Amino acid sequence: MIKKFVPYLKEFKKQVLLMPVFMLLEVAGEMILPLLIAGIIDKGINGGGGLPVIMPYSIGMIVLAFVSLGCGILSSKNSAVATQGFGRNLRKALFEKVQTFSFNDNDRFSSASLITRLTNDVRTIQGMVGMAVRMVLRTPVQMIASLVICLTMNAKLTIILGVALPIMALFVVKIMKKAHALFKAQQTAIDGLNNAVQENLIAIRVVKAFVREDYERGKFKKANDDLRDASMNAAFHIMKVFPVMTLILQAATIAVYYWGAFDIRDGAMLTGELTAYVGYISRVLMSVFMVSQSLNQVTRAAACATRIIEVLDSDPDIKDGTATELPEAKGRIEFKNVSFKYRTGTGDAVLHDVSLTIEPGEFVAFMGGTGTGKSTLVNLIPRFYDVNDGQILIDGMDVRDYPIEELRSRIGMVLQKNVLFSGTIRENILWGKPDATEEELRQAARDAQAEEFILATPDGYDTFLEQGGVNVSGGQKQRLCIARAMLRHPSILILDDSTSPVDTMTEAAIRESFHKNLKDTTVVIIAQRISSVETADKIVIVDDDHIAAVGTHEELLKTSPIYQEIYQSQQEGGAMPNG
Ligand SMILES: Nc1ncnc2c1ncn2[C@@H]1O[C@H](COP(=O)(O)OP(=O)(O)OP(=O)(O)O)[C@@H](O)[C@H]1O
Ligand SMILES: [Mg+2]
Repeated sequence: MIKKFVPYLKEFKKQVLLMPVFMLLEVAGEMILPLLIAGIIDKGINGGGGLPVIMPYSIGMIVLAFVSLGCGILSSKNSAVATQGFGRNLRKALFEKVQTFSFNDNDRFSSASLITRLTNDVRTIQGMVGMAVRMVLRTPVQMIASLVICLTMNAKLTIILGVALPIMALFVVKIMKKAHALFKAQQTAIDGLNNAVQENLIAIRVVKAFVREDYERGKFKKANDDLRDASMNAAFHIMKVFPVMTLILQAATIAVYYWGAFDIRDGAMLTGELTAYVGYISRVLMSVFMVSQSLNQVTRAAACATRIIEVLDSDPDIKDGTATELPEAKGRIEFKNVSFKYRTGTGDAVLHDVSLTIEPGEFVAFMGGTGTGKSTLVNLIPRFYDVNDGQILIDGMDVRDYPIEELRSRIGMVLQKNVLFSGTIRENILWGKPDATEEELRQAARDAQAEEFILATPDGYDTFLEQGGVNVSGGQKQRLCIARAMLRHPSILILDDSTSPVDTMTEAAIRESFHKNLKDTTVVIIAQRISSVETADKIVIVDDDHIAAVGTHEELLKTSPIYQEIYQSQQEGGAMPNG
């Protein structure tokens, strides 16, 4: 698992090497300090050396303290550079991976979970990288060095440590074992809170429309309280360590002083030495706690690492085609015995053995009840998903053979659930073709019947759209999306239910500009109104998982019961669709 993360740390080799060096120097400084104190007591005070002896020791202590501090700062600095850089690299890699995700991958990882992985999980691992160096180097070094010094100073007294250490270790292990579960519960509670907030913010308009603020408030309160309880449980539990640790530490100190006093009486040890000895013994005992804490951190980070690796290792299921000789872009689409089912769905085929040919320049309309698979059908054309069986050909070549960029550049698409981005209207339309001229831009806006309302906005094309395009109406948003797709001059233009929120007059005008300005473009629309499809070269009726009928308006009126039914219902009930 660790191997997976090494590449993101590679560019910080220097820091990774320097950090432990400075840290060891810092520890060394700290380890020598008690010895100097012992010198002051034994040689300066008790030995009667007085100030001349105490002075050099004191100066030594000050110098040592500063050196230790300096090394500590340098070690922290190197550590910060390495861990922050590591986090940055990891986030970059994750983000780039997510960009390669197919719709299938996006169905699999929810966006809430991806956000947590990219932020919270990375931060936890980052913390662990810093901590790991501490655990692997500092704590054990400090512990072993202290132990060795204790043994050389007074082997007999070290027996006390032999008793205190196992008791301490046993106790800490017991506490930490339970703490792991509590920390995990805390992490889950954080996820819960994130989910509650995110869902609320994404759907804030719906929440307000249904006046569900109270319910949402309750939901948030619960998640928030859960987090507080879980965090408190974990914190209280961990805090139990401190009194017990202090108790053991004090008991060990008393024991050392008690038996040490005999050694001092017998002249086997000096007072200052005993003081230093107590310092070292408490360091050994503290290390046990530090190690356990680090281990705890590592287990927490391991959970996050698994989640991150899951993303990094996911193999995007849509891969670039390798064809180098591409057919001329004409706009011919052919479905050959296509079957498809969603991986995350119920397991039922959404499309079963669908065959259909659309000729270049044709205007083809799909109709059918909701959930019959119309969107699914058109989403297969730019390979948002891949077919399970059969083949889709564009201009005679399988879509899976096209380099994806080339394939998608031939297709202009207005999705059923479309979005605009924060930025000006101009920037949003230019998404379709970043290098378009002003005239091309305006032509696309005119063709999509969008220019009139754009010019009516305060800043025209430079009017700023908020995130998600919330400050334009549904119909205006769709028209901007259509302009964005038309600007590409694609050989195939697909509009998934894009004109439903647009009034019939405007829709007719859009259709008219298709006829006039996109004569050679194959236009595929999904629509609900008979008026939208009447003039189509072909109307395709989708039912359940198959194509029930194909024909012109006149033909279908004679032959297709479904089409007749739709027609009847819209004749009687006015122009409103009922799906
Ligand atoms: N991302 C998805 N994951 C799993 N199942 C899906 C997904 N998208 C759609 N489905 C399912 O596939 C079926 C067809 O959906 P699709 O969106 O193609 O219908 P549609 O004909 O476009 O409907 P509408 O007219 O309401 O837009 C539905 O039963 C739907 O529940
Ligand atoms: Mg749909």
